[in-house]
Amino acid sequence: YSSDKIRNFSIIAHVDHGKSTLADRLLELTGTIRKGHGQPQYLDKLQVERERGITVKAQTATMFHKHNFLGTDTEFLLNLVDTPGHVDFSYEVSRSLAACQGALLVVDAAQGVQAQTVANFYLAFESNLTIIPVINKIDQPTADPDRIKAQLKSMFDLDPSEALLTSAKTGQGLVQVLPAVIERIPPPPGKSNSPLRMLLLDAYYDEYKGVICHVAVVDGALRKGEKISSAGTGQSYEVLDVGIMHPELTPTGVLLTGQVGYIVSGMRSTKEARVGDTLYHTRSTVDPLPGFKPAKHMVFSGVYPADGSDFEALNHAIERLTCNDASVSVTKESSSALGMGFRCGFLGLLHMDVFHQRLEQEYGAHVISTVPTVPYIFEYADGSKKHIHNPATLPSNPKQRVTACWEPTVLATIIIPSEYVGSVITLCSERRGEQLEYSFIDSQRAFMKYRLPLREIVVDFYNELKSITSGYASFDYEDAEHNVLACELVEKLKKFIDRQMFEITIQAAIGSKVIARETVSAMRKNVLAKCYGGDVTRKRKLLEKQKEGKKRMKRVGSVDIPQEAFHELLKVS
Ligand code: GTP
Repeated sequence: YSSDKIRNFSIIAHVDHGKSTLADRLLELTGTIRKGHGQPQYLDKLQVERERGITVKAQTATMFHKHNFLGTDTEFLLNLVDTPGHVDFSYEVSRSLAACQGALLVVDAAQGVQAQTVANFYLAFESNLTIIPVINKIDQPTADPDRIKAQLKSMFDLDPSEALLTSAKTGQGLVQVLPAVIERIPPPPGKSNSPLRMLLLDAYYDEYKGVICHVAVVDGALRKGEKISSAGTGQSYEVLDVGIMHPELTPTGVLLTGQVGYIVSGMRSTKEARVGDTLYHTRSTVDPLPGFKPAKHMVFSGVYPADGSDFEALNHAIERLTCNDASVSVTKESSSALGMGFRCGFLGLLHMDVFHQRLEQEYGAHVISTVPTVPYIFEYADGSKKHIHNPATLPSNPKQRVTACWEPTVLATIIIPSEYVGSVITLCSERRGEQLEYSFIDSQRAFMKYRLPLREIVVDFYNELKSITSGYASFDYEDAEHNVLACELVEKLKKFIDRQMFEITIQAAIGSKVIARETVSAMRKNVLAKCYGGDVTRKRKLLEKQKEGKKRMKRVGSVDIPQEAFHELLKVS
């Protein structure tokens, strides 16, 4: 296939607008997968993806499609890159887009433009991709394609006449999609007679084959048996296998200019495969391709074995899982309450949840995770700065005076029906947000941009936002810079701890010296409520029993403490 017969495209959308279903239909339409193969969302391979109905890892599939192009029937090679829709995975989205020249922007015909539609549109637009708007789910009774066309025009200046109307459910309008891809999206621009340059898109570990890298051949061609080098690590490898994802790995022996495919090259660990790296023929000299922005960790949390003796098993599980999810950072740590464990850095909260779920489901690990923290920067009197991910690593030397502290902030995009504007503004100002933009997409929907401290959104902002808007808000964020933070004291923490059946003491200490203390007084259940009449001994008996019970609660010992209790307990630190 010469590159004029190749099209590389991606599907981008807000969560649940139907990307994966549309991808399935296109794979069926081209005979890449059998119709009714029994497993919807073919590209969502992970169990967690199927369970949660979300796409986490971007996958690629190659399809072949005949089309009458400029008067002749021509077979085209189409590479479809599925992308995740959720905020946490925009890193995966930009990674996928780097291999594409165009994107289908899928928008739900009833819901219209949502926060991730905006975020994904800009990611594609900034990568200079041709954007084909696809208004999907037109079979719904509440579908209003004309309103959505007007939104696409006012938000993104997309020509309403270019929008395709589809239903991935009933199949309506789907036949127009691939012809539009072929006619509107340009072929990959690489040079076939230049030395090989390949972009490393992703890598994962396979039990049998070892490390499998997904690559996009930008210039030149790659054949099995050739020697390649990495511009990032300087390591050289022999290409043992090369092919396309059709949709399973299908060896072809060669990848030509503009193709997207896989290679197996005897890498021992995915750590050698740096996403965004340039691979080239060992004997040639090339300028490396522009790489990707490295993943930025926004949320940190401790991960500990539920049973302390399982540390080695957890270590093994984490090592294996990070082989397939290079966007998690892992360092060992120990906690006096939980023993030996790990501190992991994630792209966001959903990413963290998915990581935990995969640890349990795919590797059988039982874990306790601490409440997420965000990375602060501390500046000391001597001018030195330290990035702190874990409150336990704050230096204990009282002489080292902290002169300033910065906290991370995010730029949030919020789209809501107009009637909820007031309550969302209240929520954002309670969370120390600064409004940057406020406008209307159309007569029914408002668009707001806020700068918010990451710490304020990390725990429950999204749930709160959903609940005050009856589920209608859509939300997306990107990281912004660090902001100076006023130092707060222990008394503030008191607010976060609910009263319990026993007394709780909160202490702040530098080294062994306690510098502040607060007490959350005990809550007393009225055990006498059902005790009518005046029998004093019976009352006393009940109160004694209550006291005993409380003593027991205070001892942590072998009592099973639910995950939420750890979260509540560690949230304050
Ligand atoms: P993420 O992978 O989480 O980003 O979601 P997605 O955009 O891939 O959405 P997905 O394809 O999983 O579809 C979400 C839901 O919408 C599923 O329940 C689909 O069955 C349904 N759906 C998809 N397309 C259509 C359509 O054209 N009409 C109707 N009525 N439902 C659809």
